[in-house]
Amino acid sequence: MATRKREWFDKDAFWRELYPFMFPETRFTDTPEQIKKVLSLTHPTGKVALDLCCGPGRCSIALAQKGFTVTGVDKTRFLLKKARGKARSARVKVEWVEADMRDFIRPNSFNLALSMFTSFGYFDEKTQDMDVLRNVFASLRPSGVFLIDVMGKERVAKILQPTTSDVQPDGSMLVQRHEVFDNWTRIRNEWILIRKGKAKSFKFHHTLYSGQELKDRLEQVGFVDVKLYGTLAGEEYGQDARRLIAVARKPGAPKKTKHR
Ligand SMILES: C[S@@+](CC[C@H](N)C(=O)[O-])C[C@H]1O[C@@H](n2cnc3c(N)ncnc32)[C@H](O)[C@@H]1O
Repeated sequence: MATRKREWFDKDAFWRELYPFMFPETRFTDTPEQIKKVLSLTHPTGKVALDLCCGPGRCSIALAQKGFTVTGVDKTRFLLKKARGKARSARVKVEWVEADMRDFIRPNSFNLALSMFTSFGYFDEKTQDMDVLRNVFASLRPSGVFLIDVMGKERVAKILQPTTSDVQPDGSMLVQRHEVFDNWTRIRNEWILIRKGKAKSFKFHHTLYSGQELKDRLEQVGFVDVKLYGTLAGEEYGQDARRLIAVARKPGAPKKTKHR
């Protein structure tokens, strides 16, 4: 495996300390409904699914509850441990794989692949995002479908505020700072958590894709029928869209010609 520089997402502590803010209980209770919408947008032709960057397993578990055979892939050990515990409580079986999305590839294996809740665009080297798309493409079976859910650049351009703050249910304050850089291709975020008078800062950055940029990249690696939506309910994509959802299909197997 290639040696890579350590980036912000490599630190378990980042995910562990922000877990209560990223994954409040409502995120889990809302998931079955989200997965219902994912399935109506994607219409997978079989029931073998990849949940790429599965985190604490909310989508993997909801898919397993719908009868899918699921592989959840993530590189954060802390989150995979959470996922295992939650699957046990839900009495579902999921295959959990600790791997980097740049490395995970299982050729011709899945009917459906998901990258949910802004799990794409993390790498300083943008070509590595392309590596991920290539891996997913190879891992899908013919006619397999891939759904990516991120926040689109158009939306960020409309709502970006340098600083926002919220009081959290536990009384702590979360101050968020945002700055777009690298010719408006990337966003640098700082979350400052103020709890009992003490402040702790977490910094992370990622690439922002416009709808067209994401579509182009999916097509570059071979996906077809790429469609963009603004919500999982299938609303139109645009500046007011809460999310950028791309649904892309791997071409089907070529039809066999009959030789007489
Ligand atoms: C915002 S969370 C989303 C989790 C999950 N998709 C969901 O919808 O709840 C992003 C996830 O990406 C994972 N991740 C970050 N970098 C990764 C990498 N290079 N390879 C695999 N997983 C990674 C993190 O561990 C985390 O679980």
